[in-house]
Amino acid sequence: MKPHVRPANPCFSSGPCAKRPGWTVAALSGAVVGRSHRAKAGKDKLLEVVARSRKLLGIPADWRVGIVPASDTGAVEMALWSLLGARGVDVLSWESFGEGWATDVAQQLKLPDTRLMTAPYGELPDLHEVDWAHDVVFTWNGTTSGARVPNGDWISDKREGLAICDATSAVFAMDLPWQKLDVVTWSWQKVLGGEAAHGMLALGPRAVARLESYTPPWPLPKIFRMTSKGKLIAGIFEGETINTPSLLVVEDALDSLRWAESVGGLPALMARSEGNLAAIARWVAKTPWIDFLAGDPAARSCTSVCLKVVDDWFTRLTPDQQRAQVKKLEALLDAEGVAYDVAGHRDALPGLRIWCGATVETADVEALLPWLDWAYAEIRRPAAAA
Ligand SMILES: Cc1ncc(COP(=O)(O)O)c(C=O)c1O
Repeated sequence: MKPHVRPANPCFSSGPCAKRPGWTVAALSGAVVGRSHRAKAGKDKLLEVVARSRKLLGIPADWRVGIVPASDTGAVEMALWSLLGARGVDVLSWESFGEGWATDVAQQLKLPDTRLMTAPYGELPDLHEVDWAHDVVFTWNGTTSGARVPNGDWISDKREGLAICDATSAVFAMDLPWQKLDVVTWSWQKVLGGEAAHGMLALGPRAVARLESYTPPWPLPKIFRMTSKGKLIAGIFEGETINTPSLLVVEDALDSLRWAESVGGLPALMARSEGNLAAIARWVAKTPWIDFLAGDPAARSCTSVCLKVVDDWFTRLTPDQQRAQVKKLEALLDAEGVAYDVAGHRDALPGLRIWCGATVETADVEALLPWLDWAYAEIRRPAAAA
């Protein structure tokens, strides 16, 4: 039997994520389109994004925050190409995005003194094995496996290297210990439900000191360059973007930041996301066919919640067959208009991934869960009857 209640918003994609509740294109009406981003009107908007982000996230006053090209990937790669090479590097990876940064460091930059510390989907590498004499590259939340670092306790206060953190699916939903980080990156399309293509790069004082004291031996394209004649290009962190941003997207980012403030700021955003995870956890506890991919509750993401099917019928299938069944389940939910984009990432084990960031309403998560039971019974039925 199909459930009676439908989620009011069926958007559960892990990026771009659901727009904030009540969003319409009218939110963009104040955009300074057709104007230069270097004129006061445009630059003020860029500065406002930075100022509101700083305040919401509690970024220390001595950090620099800039809007950079090419989304979170651009922000991370700008940092890797500009900062690494001065000392050894530890790269922690436990899913697709971390693996991407490991590839950058080991195969593209080809840094000789690199340790790759990996773990399978659903697990974390041993965080206490990290050598803080090295620079350390990691994702706070592994979006494709639903495993996050539980906190920053494993990050040394006496580190010699830099802690370089891709936090794109963590910021605005998880508490980041800024004092323990040196570089933090994110994009707008995750927890804020904004639009893609613009990255945020936050640099702590130690990262700035590295930029001003070290020049990497490889060429840097203009889009990565943060220094000129050995000095930080301060303008990048004062609303002067390297190249042209979309002022329409900037307006949308401002709308999402204003919304975040209106619901109560970071504590409220975190509570909304944790509440969504808790709703899923209650369902998982009473549902025999499903479990969290991340076994350790402390490492379970409250944003990209990844689930595995543990039912015998499913686990006996080959990975290709499992993936096909998940696609079928996703298509059933899509056709009903109750959930979009809930299949796991293409690089992950076949399973489900439900975005639970702050723009998602807990009532919608709760309404979705009976539909997952229904869709699973539907895909299983022909096989069980055969
Ligand atoms: C942890 C993580 N890093 C990097 C990315 C890539 O982000 P973008 O598409 O903003 O470059 C994503 C996107 O989902 C992500 O979740």
